[in-house]
Formats: sequence, C-alpha cells, structure tokens
Amino acid sequence: MNPEGKVALVTGGSSGIGRATALLLAEAGASVVVADIDGDGGAETVSLVEQAGGKAAFVESDTTRREELERMVAFAEETYGGLDILHNNAGIGLPPPRFPETPPERWEIALTVNLWAVIAGTQAAVPAMRRRGGGVIVSTASMAGIIQYQPDPIYAAAKHGIVGLTRALVFLKAEANIRVNCVCPGVVDTPMLTKLMPEMTAEQRAQRDAMVSQMPLIPPREIAEAVLEFVRDDSLAGEAMGIMYGRPRKLIPPAVTFSRDPAQRMPN
Ligand SMILES: NC(=O)c1ccc[n+]([C@@H]2O[C@H](COP(=O)([O-])OP(=O)(O)OC[C@H]3O[C@@H](n4cnc5c(N)ncnc54)[C@H](O)[C@@H]3O)[C@@H](O)[C@H]2O)c1
Repeated sequence: MNPEGKVALVTGGSSGIGRATALLLAEAGASVVVADIDGDGGAETVSLVEQAGGKAAFVESDTTRREELERMVAFAEETYGGLDILHNNAGIGLPPPRFPETPPERWEIALTVNLWAVIAGTQAAVPAMRRRGGGVIVSTASMAGIIQYQPDPIYAAAKHGIVGLTRALVFLKAEANIRVNCVCPGVVDTPMLTKLMPEMTAEQRAQRDAMVSQMPLIPPREIAEAVLEFVRDDSLAGEAMGIMYGRPRKLIPPAVTFSRDPAQRMPN
C-alpha cells in the first residue's frame, strides 16, 4: 500500500517508537492519528509532524479500555474519512521484582497493555478497514517475543502472544485484504528504557541505567522504517520482522511448522 493520501493511526504515538512511526508515515504522505494517554507528548508529536509539513491529530485513548479503542477508530474516520493503517504500538515494561514475585495487579496491567490491547485494537480496526476495502495492521512485538527472554517472563509472554496472533491472522489477507504483521525490535533508544518507575529502588534504577548505558541502542526511526516496509510491501502478511542493532532487518519464520501431509503430521 502506498501510504500517500491514506489514514494511519498510531497507539503510543506520544513517545519513542510510536512518535518515530507517526513522523515517517506523515512524511510518506499519510494523515496520522496519534493515540495515547499522554496528552502533552501527543501534542508534541502532532507539532513535530506539522513542522515537517505533514498532517496529524491527537486523540486521548487508553488502549486498555475497549470503548476508547473504538473511539480512536471513530475519531480517525470522522477526522480523516477512514482508517487504512494501524500501528498497535503502546506498551509498558514491568518493574522488579521479576515473576513469580511480581504483585498480581502489576503483571495483569502489563499483560493487558502489551497483549489484550493489541487484540482489542485489531478487533476495533477491522470493521473500519473493511469499509475501506482493506488495510495494514502492524503491531510492535519485541525480540522478547521470539527468544527465551528470562529478564521479564510476563513481557515475554505478552510479546510471544503478539507474534502468535500476527502469524495466525494471515487469513485476513485473503478474507478482507487486511495484512497483519509485527515488528520485533531488540533494544531501542526510547524513554521506556529509563522511565522512572516509582516501585524501583534507587539501587535497582542505578543497575538498570548502568546496563542500558553499555548496550548499543537501535534508533527508533529504524523501527519506523520496518513498519513502513510492512505498509508498502503488499506481499507481506502474517510475518514477524526482527530488528537488531547493526544488522539488516529480516523476517523470522516460525521455528516449527506442520507437514501438509496428514500421515506425517509432526512438527518439522
Ligand atoms: N524501547 C525498547 O527497547 C523496545 C524494544 C522492543 C519493543 N518495544 C516496544 O515498543 C513499543 C513502544 O515502546 P517505546 O520504547 O517507544 O516506549 P515509550 O515509553 O517511549 O512509549 C510508549 C508509549 O505508550 C504509551 N502508553 C502506555 N500505556 C498506554 C495505554 N494504556 N494506552 C495508550 N498509550 C499508552 C505511553 O504513554 C508512551 O507514549 C512498546 O510496545 C514496547 O514494548 C520497545
């Protein structure tokens, strides 16, 4: 899909990867709805898009609330006449302690933002995309959704969920001309890495900041470029794309597939 003249909606568009995607989609000619709980950051993204000559509008939307997801989709239709592209991107990290010590309400929120909201956001967008004759949905998963990511098992579970959802929704391409894909970044240079979580002790924050300062960080624009590749390339559906520092991005097929021959129906 050529994004020129199309309508895109980016959740978590007030910061980091979402902001970079909003900017790149607007540069490519799309009108962009920035959806987030952070109004100040959203206004800044809109202003950055406008300074670069693009079109954007902000809608306050908490992705953990179904009615707000429906409202953000309706806002795109009312403001720009439809919805063609959705970037399900809003996400949060979990502070220590690591599961199973994590308080239940903490991991339940993380799972809701990082997985439930991606499923519900996709569900909210599909009817609007059907009205346009098709669309593209790109979710932000993570390398934590592909590898055995021990530092944060709940985050890993949610991101594996996004990858599984994406691969399974491949049928929407044939059924509704909607292509669903996801990006799986390594460590990206965004405020998420250094956000002050009130639950963290000063020592835990210092440890985390020291660790982050030693890592090579991917610029958020590289993730936005991967999102744009998914938008532009009409052959891509049900795919997860890995993005690691200093390496070319690449599609990651499932590690295990079933043989088409029923007599041999074992993973290979
Ligand atoms: N930064 C990394 O290293 C990294 C790596 C892999 C994947 N990711 C994923 O990328 C996505 C974007 O993260 P980022 O690094 O840009 O972080 P960020 O903290 O800079 O941005 C996240 C945005 O999501 C918004 N948000 C949080 N909860 C929300 C909710 N309930 N409703 C609406 N908006 C909400 C925040 O207000 C913020 O603007 C996340 O899904 C994250 O898990 C990040």
